[in-house]
This record gives sequence, structure tokens and C-alpha cells, in this order.
Amino acid sequence: MKEKIKVLFICLGNICRSPAAEGAFQNLVNQRKLEHIFEIDSCGTSGYHDGDLADPRTRKIAEKRGIRLTHRSRKLKKTDLAHFDYLLVMDENNFLDVISLTNEKKIQEKIFLFGKFRSDAGAPIVPDPYYKNETAFENVQDLVEDCSLGFLNFLGVDECLK
Ligand code: 4NP
Repeated sequence: MKEKIKVLFICLGNICRSPAAEGAFQNLVNQRKLEHIFEIDSCGTSGYHDGDLADPRTRKIAEKRGIRLTHRSRKLKKTDLAHFDYLLVMDENNFLDVISLTNEKKIQEKIFLFGKFRSDAGAPIVPDPYYKNETAFENVQDLVEDCSLGFLNFLGVDECLK
């Protein structure tokens, strides 16, 4: 059996953006019946919210799109860097925090700004909504759904199955 494609979504607290991205990407993968191909998880560069469910605002908005978020926040571990094939970070701070953990080029090359996969020409970052209003959370949800599609297309998984 072929190895799964292992995808880790990373933000600061692992209660807003990366669980939203994990849920959106998992939902897309489920819709395409590609669950057997992927291992999907999320984490934070901080341990501020270790063990917490996603922020209630994140969960409410995901729920409205038919996505139930049950992930519990956890901090990024050094072993994640070798284990996962794609380390998808939400902003430049996450990028710097993660890349500073390794000198290995092979690992550094796994780190991508998730916003790079968006379909429009906007900035390639998913902005932190934590201290903002509900619209900011809606925008995060829209963006992570859009980037999920872009990322799946980038992987070319659908094409492999044809
Ligand atoms: P996230 O948002 O990185 O998208 O999960 C945040 C959550 C919590 C905090 C900051 C950002 N915090 O400072 O507690």
C-alpha cells in the first residue's frame, strides 16, 4: 500500500486558523472520497491553548458550513517536522518559528504559506482573527476553504486517480 500524504496545518494557538484549515481540507478530502490517501492534523507554534477545542467562533462558523471541529489544540513537536510531508503555515511569524527549528533543507522545503494556494491575487497569508470580530472569522473560513481547493489541485491527487 502506498504511503499516505501527511499534511500538518500550523498557526500560533491552534484554536482558530489551523483547526479551521484542517476541518476545511478534511471536508474537501471526504467529499472527493480521498480519505485513504491523507493523514491530516493541525498544531500551534505555542502551547497557549493545549488541550482546548477550537475557539467557539471558529467552531460556529465551521458548523454553518457543515464541518464539525473536534480537534484539541496541541503544540508543534520536533518529530512533526520529519513525520509530515507538508507543513502548511498561516502567516510569516509561523513560517519563521517553524523554519528556525531546523537547518535541514529537506525539512525547510516542506514549509509553505497555506495562503499561497488561494485562487485570487491576495496576500498569501491567513490573518489571525483572534482579537477581531466575527467577520474576520468568516473571512478565515472562506480563505481556508479556497486554499484547500488550491492545495488539492497543487497535489494533483485527483489526476493520479483518473
Ligand atoms: P490562531 O489564533 O493562531 O489562529 O489559533 C490565535 C489564538 C490564540 C492566541 C493568538 C492567536 N492567543 O494569543 O492566545
